[in-house]
Amino acid sequence: MESEIRRKLLEMFTTGEEEYVSGQKISDELGCSRTAVWKHIEDLRKDGYELEAVRRKGYKLIKKPELVTPDALRLGLDTKKLGQNICYRETVDSTQKVAHRLAQEGCEEGTLVIAEEQVGGRGRLNRAWHSPKTTGIWMSLVLRPQIPPHEAPQLTLLAAVAIVQAIEDITNIKVDIKWPNDILINGKKLVGILTEMQADADQIHSVIIGMGINVNQQGADFNDELSSIATSLSIEKGEKISRATLVQAILKRLEELYYQYLKAGFAPIKILWEAYAITIGRNIIARTLKGSIEGLAKGITPEGTLMLEDLEGKMHYIYSADIELSNNK
Ligand code: BTN
Repeated sequence: MESEIRRKLLEMFTTGEEEYVSGQKISDELGCSRTAVWKHIEDLRKDGYELEAVRRKGYKLIKKPELVTPDALRLGLDTKKLGQNICYRETVDSTQKVAHRLAQEGCEEGTLVIAEEQVGGRGRLNRAWHSPKTTGIWMSLVLRPQIPPHEAPQLTLLAAVAIVQAIEDITNIKVDIKWPNDILINGKKLVGILTEMQADADQIHSVIIGMGINVNQQGADFNDELSSIATSLSIEKGEKISRATLVQAILKRLEELYYQYLKAGFAPIKILWEAYAITIGRNIIARTLKGSIEGLAKGITPEGTLMLEDLEGKMHYIYSADIELSNNK
């Protein structure tokens, strides 16, 4: 819906004397047909507005969607650096792209790019990442750690731990991590993390941590293909979750872990990560660019690389792969 029409329509609901606004009044004021009014109302519903329709009375606005605007995020944000600078977009191609551009332009560490909707959201291996309006958290964080470039993947594991802790803080839901960066509930994907960096051979300029979290989608919001492999916090908990509160909790947990990591290294993070990981000690199939390896996931190295012992007893060190958990332990 064009933003001008939307603005006029929402104004009618919020400034009108009467509780219900008739379809005729909307059609007169917007200068469009009754069918077009119905379509505009449906568009608002799709974007998270709750509207009641009563015959002969018209429409009533019950609830506006809860947004993740800078104002909503700043109120109660308990961090020193992360999320103190926020770049907010209603609709964006990908927050990851915006964050890359801002990082290149020299934005401060901790800058957060967040959007209500991504139309070109992407995941690992350039797969599409479904990011519908106002239902999930689609955000990218710019960090500038002084660490060797080959250690940057550790930040993916750190982010996974922070998100797991924040989800537990806010919803009490216990989730699992699948190496390296998937967060699952009962085997269904809830969160994806995409870590990218801008670096020279020996120096990191920035690390962009992209986080996609399914929060308030309902069953019908996932198409057939997705509903068998993905879920949302709301589906699991049976109630809506405040996205702004969850973003604040994630930033707080991330900040605590990040400064601990810069001071004490990866060892304390590794212990936490292992406590949440379902991959370790399981039979898995790792699909890498060079082919598939089946075997027992023995653990992660002090650097965060997955150690996989194949069926012949040979150890493989996996830096990047898609992991499938095998049912027979
Ligand atoms: C994956 O599991 O493949 C990673 C998914 C990462 C998705 C997030 S959503 C916010 C940020 N912007 C993107 O385009 N991707 C990441």
